[in-house]
Amino acid sequence: MNVARTLIGRDEIAKRAAAMGAQITADLKRHSHGEEHPRVVLMPILTGALVFTADLIRHIPVQMSIRPVTISSYPGTATTSQGANIHGAVPTDLKGAHVLIVDDILDSGRTLGLLRRVIAAQRPASLQIAVLLNKNKPGGRSEEVEVEYSGFEIEDEFVVGYGLDFDGYFRNLPDIGVLAPS
Ligand code: IMP
Ligand code: MG
Repeated sequence: MNVARTLIGRDEIAKRAAAMGAQITADLKRHSHGEEHPRVVLMPILTGALVFTADLIRHIPVQMSIRPVTISSYPGTATTSQGANIHGAVPTDLKGAHVLIVDDILDSGRTLGLLRRVIAAQRPASLQIAVLLNKNKPGGRSEEVEVEYSGFEIEDEFVVGYGLDFDGYFRNLPDIGVLAPS
C-alpha cells in the first residue's frame, strides 16, 4: 500500500489547527464566564486523534486536563465502520466540567455518536466536539452527530496520515493523503 496523492498538506493543517484552537479558546471562555475555577477536560479519541490533539492543545492556552479514551471501529484492514467499541474506562466525574471531545475524522458517526451520548449523560457544563476532517457522506451517516468544530470537509474516500491509519500504519505521515487502490 502506498499513498497515491496528498490531499491536505502539513502547512494547511497547521493553519487550520491554529484557527480552530483560537475559536475553541474564545468559546471556552464564554461558556465558563463567571466560574472561578472552570474545569476544562479535553478528551482525545485514541489512536487517531493523537497527532491533531498534540497540535491543537498548543493553541488552547487555558488550564485543562487531558483524558484520552480508546474507541475502535476499524479492526485490521477494514475501511468501513464495523460499529464502535469503547475500550477501557471512560471518566465518570464530568458533571459540571467543560468537555471537548477531539477526533481525527467524522465518518459513519458511530464513534462520536456513542461517546457524545455517554458523556452527555454525566451532565457536563458544556460539551463540544472538534474533528479535523468531516467526511461528506452522500447517502447520509449511520448516525447524525452534532459537531461544533470541523477542520476540513473531504470527499468520501479513505485517507491516511497525520494520525489516521490503515491497518495501524501511516499515522506518522506529516500530510494527509489518499491510498493508491491495491
Ligand atoms: P465513524 O465511527 O465511522 O465516524 O469513524 C470514526 C473513526 O474511524 C475515526 O476515529 C477514525 O479513526 C476511523 N476512520 C474513519 N474514516 C477513516 C479514514 O478515511 N481513514 C482512517 N481512519 C478512518
Ligand atoms: Mg479513531
